[in-house]
This record gives sequence, C-alpha cells and structure tokens, in this order.
Amino acid sequence: MKFICLLLLTACGIKDSRSEQYEVIRAAVAVFASVGDDVILPCSGKPNISVVDMRVEWRRSDLKDSLVHLYEDHEDRETEQNESYRGRTQLIHPELQRGNASLRLSSVKVSDEGRYKCIIGSESSKHEATVDLTVEALGWPPVITIDGFNPSGGLRLQCESEGWYPEPHLEWLNHEGVSLRPETTETHQKAGMFSIKHTIIVYHSDDKIHCRVKLKHHMLEAQIITSREVFKTWRTTAVLISVIVVFSGFAAMMFAVLLHKYRENRQLKIENKRLKQELDQLLQSQKTPEVTLDAGDSGKTCHTGPEDKEILVDNADP
Ligand SMILES: *[C@@H]1O[C@H](CO)[C@@H](O)[C@H](O)[C@H]1NC(C)=O
Ligand SMILES: *[C@@H]1O[C@H](CO)[C@@H](O)[C@H](O)[C@H]1NC(C)=O
Ligand SMILES: *[C@@H]1O[C@H](CO)[C@@H](O)[C@H](O)[C@H]1NC(C)=O
Repeated sequence: MKFICLLLLTACGIKDSRSEQYEVIRAAVAVFASVGDDVILPCSGKPNISVVDMRVEWRRSDLKDSLVHLYEDHEDRETEQNESYRGRTQLIHPELQRGNASLRLSSVKVSDEGRYKCIIGSESSKHEATVDLTVEALGWPPVITIDGFNPSGGLRLQCESEGWYPEPHLEWLNHEGVSLRPETTETHQKAGMFSIKHTIIVYHSDDKIHCRVKLKHHMLEAQIITSREVFKTWRTTAVLISVIVVFSGFAAMMFAVLLHKYRENRQLKIENKRLKQELDQLLQSQKTPEVTLDAGDSGKTCHTGPEDKEILVDNADP
C-alpha cells in the first residue's frame, strides 16, 4: 500500500516538474521579409514534446491580439481569423509532433509588419513567446533626370524612385564614393508606400555620379556620366543667350529713340498746322474790303457791316 502511494507521488512529482520546465522558445526575436515573400515565424516548445493535442494560437499583440491563426482540437479554425490573413497562414502538421508550432505566412504584405505572439497550451497552462516581423518593399529602380542648368552654370540632376517601404534612404555619390550634399529632398507616402526625390547641382564634367536608394536589406542604384559635351552645350547656350539679351537690349533702345522722335515730329506737325490756321484767320480778319463804285451809286452813302467784314450800300435816295 505504502509502495503504491510512493509510486503515485513520484509520478505526480515527475509530471509537475515537467510542466514547470516546459517553455515556448523562439529561434529568432526578429524576422525579416520582403513584400510577396513567404516567411516562417518560428516558435517551438522545449522540451520538444508533441503539441498535436494542444491548442496553438498566433496573434498580433500590437493589434489588440487580433487572431492570425488558430489550431484547436486537431484542426485549423478559420472562423475568428483576421480577414487580412485569410488563406495565407499554415502550421506544418508533421512539425507539431516535434513540438514545433512555427507559422508559415505566405505572400507577405506591408500590413503584416508587427509583433506576433505564439501561444501554446490550454487556458490553465499557457506558454507564449513573441516574434517581431519586419517587412521591406523594394521599390522601382531610381531614374536620373537632367533638369537643366542653374544660373551659375551647375548641372541640376534629379533622382527619383517610388514603391518603397519603409522610408528609404537616398544618397548621391561621386566616382570616388564621396557622398554629395543634395540641393532639395522630397519624400511622399501614398497607400503606405514611399516615394523619394532628391536633386543635386554638379559643376564637374567627366564625373560618374551614382544615385543609391536603399533600405536595410535592399539597394538599387542608377548612374550618370556628366560628359564635357553637356557642359559645352550650356556654355554655347549661355553665350547665345547673352548675345540675344544684348541685341534685344540694343533693339529696344533704338525703338524707344525712334518712337520718341516720331512723337516729337508729330507734335511739331500738329503745332505747325495750328499756327498756320491761326495765321490764316488773322490774315482773313485783316483783309481790306474792295469796293467798286459805278456812276449809279453816286450820292449814296455806305457803311461797314457787322464785324467790319462787308460794306453795305445805303439804298435810300437823298
Ligand atoms: C486585421 O489585421 C490588419 C493588419 O493586417 C489590421 O489592420 C486590422 O485592424 C485587423 N483587423 C482586426 C479586426 O483586428
Ligand atoms: C528533440 O530534441 C532532442 C535534442 O534536444 C533530439 O535529439 C530529438 O530528436 C528531438 N525529437 C524530435 C521528435 O524532434
Ligand atoms: C520548425 O518548422 C519550420 C518549418 O518547417 C522549420 O523551418 C524550422 O526549422 C523548425 N524548427 C525547429 C526548431 O525544428
């Protein structure tokens, strides 16, 4: 009787010590994935006893414990799963026998980035571990555009790239790998994705300029060679422009002078005309009236009309 009891106690003791020692471990604290990749979120029990008969939960602890995957009563259950993970999560069932509850997540999206919690066990004895998933989206290769010359003859280059996550780092380098200071920098975020645009001013010809857009795990690069021809074009253009400027300045001056002359001339003409008219009037008023008398007019008197402009003969007989 005593022996049986001892055996029972021992059995109980062993079971207790096993459940105390059981823990959930993760192979990595942080996991990285590119958009579109398939990724394994690691999680397994130690010791490696089977978890086939246990409940396994994957949740987003940064999203109010939103359910990512649930395995219960030997089945995967989809009903409470967050819609955004529908059809993309999988527990590898043969691995469950080895105590491995790692989750396979396929077609990774930017919104998958966050903190995941792996929970193994029943309500009474739960064991959990967290894994952080970092997501990167590789954008489009950068494009360099020649954006003309600035007033001091520097060549303005613009480098642009879009479709990145998270915000990428853009760097201009010369052929020696020396970083060049950008003139302007711009970053935009649209639908979660970043686009970036930097410009620089280059004064040296025969230089190979690199534009690098990078994230922690990705980098894309574009190059341009600033040939002497490009700068020559600018010099010719600059000379042409100054010649044109000088010429048009001269032409404008000539025009102004001519216009002034013409106006003066016209004024003089008008003045001249006015004076002539005045003179005519004056002469008109000074004209002496011509009077011709014949024999029949003898004995008549005459007098000047109004304003002294005519001579009137009085008809009254004497
Ligand atoms: C489901 O997950 C997405 C991220 O993948 C999150 O934005 C959304 O809020 C979650 N939905 C719920 C109901 O928790
Ligand atoms: C459990 O782990 C031990 C070493 O820790 C290993 O020898 C054994 O093969 C593993 N069992 C299974 C089923 O993976
Ligand atoms: C768990 O399973 C995954 C997926 O098969 C595998 O990549 C990983 O190495 C396994 N982990 C351990 C500790 O066996």
